[in-house]
Amino acid sequence: MSQEHHRLEQRKVRFDFADTPLHWVPGEPEASHIMNTLHLILPAGEFWFCRVYNKALPLITDEQLREDVRGFVRQEAQHARAHDSALTPYLERHGIDPTPFTRGIYWLFEKVLCDYPLGENAFTRWLQPWWLRQRVGLIAAVEHFTCVLGNWIITTRSLDDADPVMLDLLRWHGAEEVEHRCVAHDLHVHLKGNLLMRWFYMLVASGALIFLFSQSMRTLMRQDPSTRYHRGFLRLWHALGKRDMLPPMGSIGVAVLRYFRPGFHPRTEGDLRVALDYLASSPAAQRAAAEAAG
Ligand SMILES: [Fe+2]
Ligand SMILES: [Fe+2]
Repeated sequence: MSQEHHRLEQRKVRFDFADTPLHWVPGEPEASHIMNTLHLILPAGEFWFCRVYNKALPLITDEQLREDVRGFVRQEAQHARAHDSALTPYLERHGIDPTPFTRGIYWLFEKVLCDYPLGENAFTRWLQPWWLRQRVGLIAAVEHFTCVLGNWIITTRSLDDADPVMLDLLRWHGAEEVEHRCVAHDLHVHLKGNLLMRWFYMLVASGALIFLFSQSMRTLMRQDPSTRYHRGFLRLWHALGKRDMLPPMGSIGVAVLRYFRPGFHPRTEGDLRVALDYLASSPAAQRAAAEAAG
């Protein structure tokens, strides 16, 4: 299988944000807020990944892929917990209330994208295999973005003077996204996902992510007296990307186009060696490994 038989391990990392400033990229409140939106979006989103994949596990007939999916679920659950640990103690300590956004996102993932959004009956039970495949297709497209963003955060040098704890959270997460970059695509293909579905769900994922990032950014910036939501989300991202404070928008656009190639496979995305090197040196991952060993 295309995961190169690399076993995906769960690293039980913990982070202490007691000394982390709200603007954890020095002098860059807008970049800090845009990256802080991950704490609002990911706990709900990644626990949803886990629920969908646990539902898909019995349908997997390839033992290696089944093991990859189990490893993927363990890692995504830990990502969700780690970002959740930044949500309340960190953001609320800085006077930010995330609930105007998080109420909506939990509704999206727990009500709209659940197993039975229209209620359980004979018809919706019959639709379950189809509905599961659609959600697996959507996750595969989102995982292309998480790999591309993850590869940027572990390779950019522009954030090296940022708060080390927050940076380690994002780099540990980004490195694991590169590490498990093939799993969602392989599962989508294994469950008979085709090229048209891949194209369709990339379009859905692109629109949904722009909407979620822009709305969560608005929630954060409106509560911070030092930032005003004065520009459109995409214009702001473009300006920050030109200074490498965020992944340059052009590189994201090119990555989206790569996903439309008929022969696309995520094994050529990112650099697994760089990701594993970061995971070997990550302070949080090192602490987790020491705790697991002793
Ligand atoms: Fe993740
Ligand atoms: Fe992931």
